[in-house]
Amino acid sequence: MLDTVEVDLGDRSYPIHIGADALADRNLWERIESRQVVIVSNEVVAPLYLDQVCQHFSDRDCFPYVIADGEAEKNLGSFEKLMGTLLEQRVDRSATLVALGGGVVGDLTGFAAACYQRGIAYVQAPTTLLAQVDSSVGGKTAVNHPLGKNMIGAFYQPQMVIADTSVFDTLPDREFAAGLAEIIKYGLIRDSDFLSWLEENLGALVQRDNDALRFAIRRSCENKAEVVTADERESGSRALLNLGHTFGHAIETIQGYGEYLHGEAVAIGMVMAARMSARCGWISGDDVDRVCQMLLAAGLPTVAPAGVSPDQYLEVMSRDKKNTGGDIRLVLLKSLGNAFVTSDYDASLLHDTLVETG
Ligand code: NAD
Ligand code: GLY
Repeated sequence: MLDTVEVDLGDRSYPIHIGADALADRNLWERIESRQVVIVSNEVVAPLYLDQVCQHFSDRDCFPYVIADGEAEKNLGSFEKLMGTLLEQRVDRSATLVALGGGVVGDLTGFAAACYQRGIAYVQAPTTLLAQVDSSVGGKTAVNHPLGKNMIGAFYQPQMVIADTSVFDTLPDREFAAGLAEIIKYGLIRDSDFLSWLEENLGALVQRDNDALRFAIRRSCENKAEVVTADERESGSRALLNLGHTFGHAIETIQGYGEYLHGEAVAIGMVMAARMSARCGWISGDDVDRVCQMLLAAGLPTVAPAGVSPDQYLEVMSRDKKNTGGDIRLVLLKSLGNAFVTSDYDASLLHDTLVETG
């Protein structure tokens, strides 16, 4: 049984189909009407799931395009190579690209779809938990530049998202936990009922219980869809989705990419955001403990790396994309389930939070 969540964006609306064996569901794939279909995947995911998807297109002009694994592939060189292949293969404007993989494949494929011949259709088939609850939904596409992550990209919505929960059978534990961090994030920023449900059901999620996962992914996608519908191009409230990310991004940058998975750095960042919110007097110490307990139950780190000074944090945080006019804008918690974006706080409290952490 599949659940469906609609992302309501007028003529750019699309469904997210969620559940076990969705990749095998021919009815879903038949909604792609293109004569030409290109399935973009990577060298880890392709051996596991590519045949299953390709078989739906045996009567079409369909070919796979497989990239190497890893964040390093999300760059302009890979983008240009993919463009070259699409041109060589005479892929036309009515074609559909399918992104079969995690957020790296999804972001690269989405950006390629946004640019190829000024925009062609694409479908997201996310195979990590993080991609199913976050990167495949909402139309942010990008590649990295040596001077900054996700600095070259476009807002470009997919035609459909197919989130098959069976793919978690092969997903490593660390990658799975990184996705749980983003799920907990939705509860913290805007959904206290979901947060309570998560506290009760984290054990089932960690055990990869399919019903619990389908519910958690659906609720996460519903939350993300509502946020994106209200502010598709992040001129305001979409920034709430960055809870823990300003601190987390600083940790990733200071430690070097690869030391922490993105979701792990976000987990630590959410604890730092909770501590800062408590220092500001908005939430209690018990609330901070609640956040830590959930993240620990999900198998995530909650303690920042030792030996990083407040000045090191502040240097990186001051370069965050959310900032305006020199102030560091933070996503903080008014209560658990109610986040807001602000630069209106006492700077000494931020300093104290970073000292406590470092
Ligand atoms: P990823 O794509 O690198 O996948 C993580 C690892 O899991 C990779 O080694 C991958 O090959 C492997 N993998 C994927 N599916 C698997 C499966 N079912 N079984 C076994 N292995 C599998 O990383 P990610 O965490 O999915 O995505 C991170 C990327 O997403 C980053 O580039 C980040 O910037 C981007 N992102 C984008 C958005 C957005 O809104 N567009 C949001 C969050 C993150
Ligand atoms: N992952 C943040 C966003 O989609 O806005």
